[in-house]
Amino acid sequence: MVTVYIDRAIDEPIRREGIYSGDIHMRTGVAESTAIVEWARSLITEAFGDFDPQRAQFELDLEEFVRRVGPLKSRFTNDDHTKELVQDLVIAMGSDPETTYFDLPRLRVVPSDAYLTSGVSYAYKAHRDTWYAHPPQLVNYWVPVYDCVGDNVMSMWTGYWNRPVRNSSAGFDYDRWVSEQRFKAASNIKGEDRPHPLPLEPVDPLCEIRIAGNAGDIMLFSTCQLHSTAPNVSGVTRFSFDLRTLDINDLIEGRGPTNPDGAATGTTVCDFLRVSDLAALEIDLRDRTPEVSINTGR
Ligand SMILES: [Fe+2]
Repeated sequence: MVTVYIDRAIDEPIRREGIYSGDIHMRTGVAESTAIVEWARSLITEAFGDFDPQRAQFELDLEEFVRRVGPLKSRFTNDDHTKELVQDLVIAMGSDPETTYFDLPRLRVVPSDAYLTSGVSYAYKAHRDTWYAHPPQLVNYWVPVYDCVGDNVMSMWTGYWNRPVRNSSAGFDYDRWVSEQRFKAASNIKGEDRPHPLPLEPVDPLCEIRIAGNAGDIMLFSTCQLHSTAPNVSGVTRFSFDLRTLDINDLIEGRGPTNPDGAATGTTVCDFLRVSDLAALEIDLRDRTPEVSINTGR
């Protein structure tokens, strides 16, 4: 059974353990999250100029929309200020900055009415992040930049917690994805030709829930939850940001949720940065005897 907790006052290790068991935690009123929302909005406003960003899709042709969204997403992910704000947020959420690492955050731009569902606005089909070669120990943060509704959030397929779904993740290799596919996002306008891992069986609509928060509200969930982009029929473009955190001791000691069906090869762990000082994570998991070394040169 999956429990959704709202503003539960709980120590982070206990919360993480619950998330590993399928719990979802919502947190509201976190100032450090609001700070990221404000930063994201300033970049969004810069990108869309005089257009109302939530409705610009109705006034811009597709190529022009992509021309604005592509650099906006890259800027948000890679700007040093974003990293500083994420450090503040993860610490505010109670994680140990010395043992917690984070993946660079992503800004998601999901237009309404299937205006664009590929490339920079790819509408993710049901997946677990392990299908994309993420380790099962990740705790995902998902945060709307503007208030959202059920018609423009993410679908959480909580009925599939610990329940396998036949999928094509065995064909996903992370290194190959980075070198051959990731950079193609901006050119996938008319359709998606990148080989995303996909479910190979229909998912049961009765297993889906949607959790709609206001701007800045944080949804924390296991990377092993099955989730997807809900078809946006809200009439406005959804902007949200997400990031993933990893407790290094859990990774080394193999604690965490069961990965019921992910078969991707490679790993994303070398992309993670230590919260305390942005040191890169280098880890060798061969032979089940992980050796961790910290590279401080990044
Ligand atoms: Fe995902």
